[in-house]
Amino acid sequence: MKLGVNIDHIATLRNARGENFPSPVHAAFVVLEAGASNVTCHLREDRRHIRDNDVRIISELTKRLNLEMSADDKIVKIALSIMPRSVTIVPEKRKELTTEGGLDVAGDVKRFKNITESFKFKSIDSITSAFIEPDVRQAEAAKEAGFDFIEIHTGRYAGAATESERMKELKRIKEAVGYALKIGLKVNAGHGLDYKNIFDIALIEGFEEFNIGFSIVSKAVFEGLGRAVEKMLDIIKAVDLAKFEKANKYDAK
Ligand code: PXP
Repeated sequence: MKLGVNIDHIATLRNARGENFPSPVHAAFVVLEAGASNVTCHLREDRRHIRDNDVRIISELTKRLNLEMSADDKIVKIALSIMPRSVTIVPEKRKELTTEGGLDVAGDVKRFKNITESFKFKSIDSITSAFIEPDVRQAEAAKEAGFDFIEIHTGRYAGAATESERMKELKRIKEAVGYALKIGLKVNAGHGLDYKNIFDIALIEGFEEFNIGFSIVSKAVFEGLGRAVEKMLDIIKAVDLAKFEKANKYDAK
């Protein structure tokens, strides 16, 4: 099983100050060097975090970009001009904080078939994935629409308020994975996965990759914050020491 890391939150931080750091491109190399198989970015229609140039550069330099995107024509056109390693079609609402719910592929198979075909037409090796709820009807529609993968939305599992709700979701996920594999789809999972809830999901047979963002970036803050403070203090202390030595040298004269 592999890991794809979503680095949108690095771009959110960069954009908060209007600077060019922290750089999502730099972040892409850090996560790949740490062993991730893919870098995931969501090019939103409102460009609230990752921007066109980020995805172009990350795709070109790493060849490991999984581009999350809506089925909007303009975004599809951009993705076709970049041709990342894979694309994951997600539903997108302007006001949502993060992707809410799965894609309704069954509601418009023809539209999604046009999208998967346009990627296959450009490159036979292109990989397309549909981000869906753990629902066999949606998995079947994804197959019909020509997707290679489905990514199961684990948000409901991650957010379950009770143990019985959590177990119910796990069962739904297990059934959807089994069905998808049977009809020839490959299966990823993502959304809301963290350092605790990943265990039970990873125990399910059949997943290729997990796409995880928020919990990893959040952990990175606290694994790195103390170290970052120490580094700044090292510099301040070194300057302090230099000042002290200079003052004492003049005093000695
Ligand atoms: N997979 C998809 C399709 C997503 O939309 C998201 C959220 O951007 C993720 C995975 C990662 O979710 P999280 O940030 O909660 O780990």
